[in-house]
Amino acid sequence: MLSLLFIPIAIIGLATGICWAYGFQFQFPSLHIPNSVSNFLIFACGAVFVPSVKRLFTLILRSKGRVWETDNGNGGVVYGLEHGRLNLELPPTMWMNMGYWHKNAEGQNTTKTLADASKALLGEIFATAGFPLDRSTTPRILTPTRTLIDLGFGCGDQTLYLMDESVGTTLLSSPSDLINWSLPARSPRTSSVNPKRGVLNSSTNEIGSSTTPNYIPLFDSYIGITNNDVQCSYARERVEAREDMNQHLRETFDGRRRTRLFCADAAAPEKWSEELRSSVLINGKWAKETWVLALDCMYHFRPTRWEVLSYAARVLHAGFLAFDLCLAEPKHVSLAQRWMLRFLTKMMGAPWGNFVTVEEYKKKLRDAGYTDIVIRDVSDSVFESLAQFLGEQDRGLQRIGLGLGKLAVAGKLFGWWGRSGIVRGVIVVARL
Ligand SMILES: C[S@@+](CC[C@H](N)C(=O)[O-])C[C@H]1O[C@@H](n2cnc3c(N)ncnc32)[C@H](O)[C@@H]1O
Repeated sequence: MLSLLFIPIAIIGLATGICWAYGFQFQFPSLHIPNSVSNFLIFACGAVFVPSVKRLFTLILRSKGRVWETDNGNGGVVYGLEHGRLNLELPPTMWMNMGYWHKNAEGQNTTKTLADASKALLGEIFATAGFPLDRSTTPRILTPTRTLIDLGFGCGDQTLYLMDESVGTTLLSSPSDLINWSLPARSPRTSSVNPKRGVLNSSTNEIGSSTTPNYIPLFDSYIGITNNDVQCSYARERVEAREDMNQHLRETFDGRRRTRLFCADAAAPEKWSEELRSSVLINGKWAKETWVLALDCMYHFRPTRWEVLSYAARVLHAGFLAFDLCLAEPKHVSLAQRWMLRFLTKMMGAPWGNFVTVEEYKKKLRDAGYTDIVIRDVSDSVFESLAQFLGEQDRGLQRIGLGLGKLAVAGKLFGWWGRSGIVRGVIVVARL
């Protein structure tokens, strides 16, 4: 309460400062204040001006939960919790998908970071597709070369994760033993031999035991496409830095870079540059298998996602992997919810036409040419947990004078989707 006294003092101080600056004096017509008193008043108000404004500023920040000061008798504003930001590790991971969150029996997230949840979502997509991820039990056999076209790759985390780290990879005896995990037996091409890779033991169909740890990526070549140039250059810098440290990543095939990132609208293949279009086609010709991945991005595609899906099937003959959003069956969505959702999806830059039911989604995939389609609803492991995480992250950041800012609103949206069930988070795997 006492602190509030500083507000009028600060205002008087401010007014005095202005008077002083303009050469005014404290004089009122009816009062004959001697010049010395007037000068003293100006001096006194000026003296309290700076500390009062400082105090006022701190009060405002504190009311917004930004500063927890320690009143140690020295004014107390020097130390608080803001230095927490000095302890944050930079650069941060930059994943930005909705994640797949594991929970305990009480419904609390046991997955603690967005990076872990994001990797888990990617892992669930591959697991749904039948790409074996358990390195210890899966037989290591020679497999066809694979290329990945990664739509909406973000800031490069998934690029590095897929092309560099150990997801779906195996320990090999030497860098020349370039093998990958096999696809499920349903593909007749999975048993073909990659001529660029290690020697096959014809009796066991396996490579010899591993001695030197050497991780081999799940895909032999990678083309990433994002429409955001800031994210694209950020990702390029990170990939190049990693390539500088790891010669294996720098390796080329057919004189081309193994990992290439493009800034383009993934939704509109007809607008792609000649370079991007030919790179995609050449990679596809070189590899035995082409996969298109869209990790949490296709609901943004304008006017719809169907054009690139059709291109993936008809031109690239590619399998399709995604985490995407669908609308619940109409009987579960009231008219009011529908209109509210329409408004909010506009806010999040997602055309309303992209919100279709699972059945409509399947039909579009079949129209594009896909025959073997799996759509797996993972909403229960996504929305409410994500909302919980965003709330905790916001509170944690606010304690050190930061906050989620506009991202905090997303938490409310995901919480609503989780509780109401009107939007479904789905993993999609489609083969021709
Ligand atoms: C939610 S983020 C997901 C990023 C990344 N996949 C991840 O998991 O971290 C969606 C991404 O899709 C990208 N995106 C949206 N519309 C796109 C389009 N038409 N073409 C290419 N990228 C697009 C955005 O720039 C953004 O990076």
